Amino acid sequence: MAKNKKATVASTGVFGLDEILRGGLPASNLYILQGAPGSGKTTAALQFLRAGLEKGESCIYVSLSQTAAELNAIATSHGWSIEGIRIEELSASDAVNSAADQTIFQTAELRLDETRRAIEAAIEEHKPDRLVYDSLLEIRLITGDTLRFRRELLGFKAFSAKRNVVALVLDTQTSGPDRSGEEVEGIAHGVIRFDKSLEEYGSVRRRVEVSKMQGVPVADGYHDMAIREREGVVVFPRLVPGTASETVKPQLIKSGVDELDEMFGGGRESGTVTLVIGQSGTGKSTMSSLYATAALKRGESVALFLFEERLRNILPALRGHGHGPAAVPSGWAIDHP
Ligand SMILES: Nc1ncnc2c1ncn2[C@@H]1O[C@H](COP(=O)(O)OP(=O)(O)O)[C@@H](O)[C@H]1O
Ligand SMILES: [Mg+2]
Repeated sequence: MAKNKKATVASTGVFGLDEILRGGLPASNLYILQGAPGSGKTTAALQFLRAGLEKGESCIYVSLSQTAAELNAIATSHGWSIEGIRIEELSASDAVNSAADQTIFQTAELRLDETRRAIEAAIEEHKPDRLVYDSLLEIRLITGDTLRFRRELLGFKAFSAKRNVVALVLDTQTSGPDRSGEEVEGIAHGVIRFDKSLEEYGSVRRRVEVSKMQGVPVADGYHDMAIREREGVVVFPRLVPGTASETVKPQLIKSGVDELDEMFGGGRESGTVTLVIGQSGTGKSTMSSLYATAALKRGESVALFLFEERLRNILPALRGHGHGPAAVPSGWAIDHP
């Protein structure tokens, strides 16, 4: 049955994140996704389940914090269908009402028991390959103390491991840096952190860090991340100098102007960075764009990042240097603010 369909590595469904994880999440384990409210956990979790659906896996979203309608709204805002994902909406407060006359201690115990039983029943019934648990914060609030909380998480880990579930457990970080990270780090097979920060100026900066992944030499440190309409959470693995494939031989990149190439000993070496310095109007942009047009003519793709000039200002400069109006605009993907 479904178990045979499962690969040993589960794709996260998040562009770029699988690359950092060297393929995805090592299957049938418990992973924690931490982040402040609004950092993208729920969005990424939906992507994770959608990736499972695509492979014909059975997927459950256990939600203690968001209603099915809220989850649907998030999916709809990206144009996604989450049909086929089983949503178990467990209100952590249901049990309180039924036990209003109990002491506070018993109430907490009852709520925990009911929540745990509901999750286990859902797992037994639907036999998911992938499960999202949103979020640990609610359990943390009910248990109140670390020991009880750890025991609860360990119990869930053992239960889901026995049933071959890849569980992605969301952990909402409240104020302050990582108040609760360590107690769960030890239990999970892997911990992924979404970070959201505001700079002095400009838009919010989103980053991701894989702070633990057992048995996987992940790309460590921060990697940039964004939440985009339709794509959802996307990750841009950091380029690490020296990790480019060594089998690729350096080539000499030509500008198309023989004298210039000769001056550089045949061209600029591929895989290197060249800084062009000069006063304004001395021809920095024009010289650099020679390499871009020459590469386009060779049929290669080129990225040009313009911060000062507009494309409409730079195009006449290119044409003025005899590179022909027709050759330049075709093949240029124009993407500038
Ligand atoms: N349709 C969308 N397109 C782009 N970004 C969105 C869209 N919908 C929500 N977002 C962004 O995603 C964030 C919410 O992400 P969410 O996954 O709900 O976070 P968390 O579960 O960590 O609280 C919002 O704060 C918003 O910035
Ligand atoms: Mg959420």
